[in-house]
Amino acid sequence: MERIEITGGRTLAGRVRPACAKNSVLPLLAATLLCREPCTLCGVPDLADVQTSLQLLAAVGAAVERRGPDLCTAPRPVRGLVPDPLAAAMRASVFYLAPLLLRAGRVELPLPGGCRLGPRPIDIHLDGLAAMGATVQTLPDRVVVQRRGALHAVDYTLRLPSVGATLTLLMAAACARGFTTLRGAACEPEIADVAAFLNAAGARIAGAGTPVLTIRGVGGLLPGGARHTPLPDRIAAATYAAAVAAAGGQVTVEGCRPAYLGAFLQFLRRAGCRVEAGPDGFTVARDPDRPLQGGVDLRTGAWPGFATDTAPLAAAVLLGAEGASRIHDALFQNRFACAAGFAAMGARVRARGRDLWLAGSDRLQGTLVTAPDLRGGAALVIAGLFAEGSSTVLDPGHIRRGYADLPGELRQLGAACRPAPARAPQAVQYG
Ligand code: UD1
Repeated sequence: MERIEITGGRTLAGRVRPACAKNSVLPLLAATLLCREPCTLCGVPDLADVQTSLQLLAAVGAAVERRGPDLCTAPRPVRGLVPDPLAAAMRASVFYLAPLLLRAGRVELPLPGGCRLGPRPIDIHLDGLAAMGATVQTLPDRVVVQRRGALHAVDYTLRLPSVGATLTLLMAAACARGFTTLRGAACEPEIADVAAFLNAAGARIAGAGTPVLTIRGVGGLLPGGARHTPLPDRIAAATYAAAVAAAGGQVTVEGCRPAYLGAFLQFLRRAGCRVEAGPDGFTVARDPDRPLQGGVDLRTGAWPGFATDTAPLAAAVLLGAEGASRIHDALFQNRFACAAGFAAMGARVRARGRDLWLAGSDRLQGTLVTAPDLRGGAALVIAGLFAEGSSTVLDPGHIRRGYADLPGELRQLGAACRPAPARAPQAVQYG
């Protein structure tokens, strides 16, 4: 098990640039299967979930090659069976449902894993595909989806604006026959990014980034390929911003549109950070000797609301802020598993269901904690930055799923933070 070791109490300074967004890259890799011509995704970070995606693509027969920072795909026949361990390793395996259905005519997908944030049903993905003419069979541990002939166009309203389901139905509609309207679609920037890629490969999608998407299906695979640079990772950008808010100092996050994390920057301003936004980045500054202001009641929501992925990061910032706060996660039932780690560091927090209560004004003491999930793990690292003494975050593989090198990036900003390899098992002495 990897560990991250942090010595708290250092302020941060410097510049950092987020990598491409995990939540764009993962569906984009699946979407390359829809293209008749080769594709290149530029500047793809070496995340654990990207490695899992490459294994999944290889397992279904696809050809993908890493050329430095780029990933290049070539069209090849594929089979529609996702191996169990790969589906279990990441939620993003669900993005292969539509592409493999379209490419292979039949897809068998073990129920996807990923962060344990509570129940994560895929009913909207399946219901939408069924509305387009697919046959869906739901087994206890997997789904089997088949089609006879091309999927047909549909006028479909999503029962809630799921990011994943919007992407599944967008990919399916791009290759269906006829004119599809998707209503109640998710509007996250990553949707528009995937739509831009699909359009570059020959799809005809309009309205991406709004709740109503209109798609003129091409009635088969997309005729072209595309060379695409995925948008910058707004959650990684929020992570650096949260780190400087918690630890103090001044950091500029470059190559990232501040509007992508507007609600989070607004939260930091209200807490007392100085935030200056430009067209292509932002600077967050915080005087470490002046406490931040808590006393907030945050509620996550779909874009452009407060992103659920940034809720644990906000919690890490609020631990030391003056005044009691509450965060409610409207999307997931178990977003605040990191509360146990905060409490082990001495924070007065209580998590119940979708809610996290924080007493505020807590002084943390470094200790040994375990990353419960990706963003909760990042939040514990941030808590370690302002805790007294040394903290160790045991990471059973979560943080690397979304950050190629979070300790390295924080170290570049002046933090005392480094990864440590798994401890070798202790030698046992006999007799
Ligand atoms: C994506 C992101 C994740 C982010 C989330 C919300 C990826 C790989 N992951 O996850 O980081 O936290 O968006 O911004 O892009 N739901 C259903 N039925 C469905 C689909 C979803 O009930 O068929 C529910 C989920 O349980 C959840 C809510 O809808 O309560 C939002 O889920 P969704 O937007 O689909 O999130 P993901 O695509 O899983």
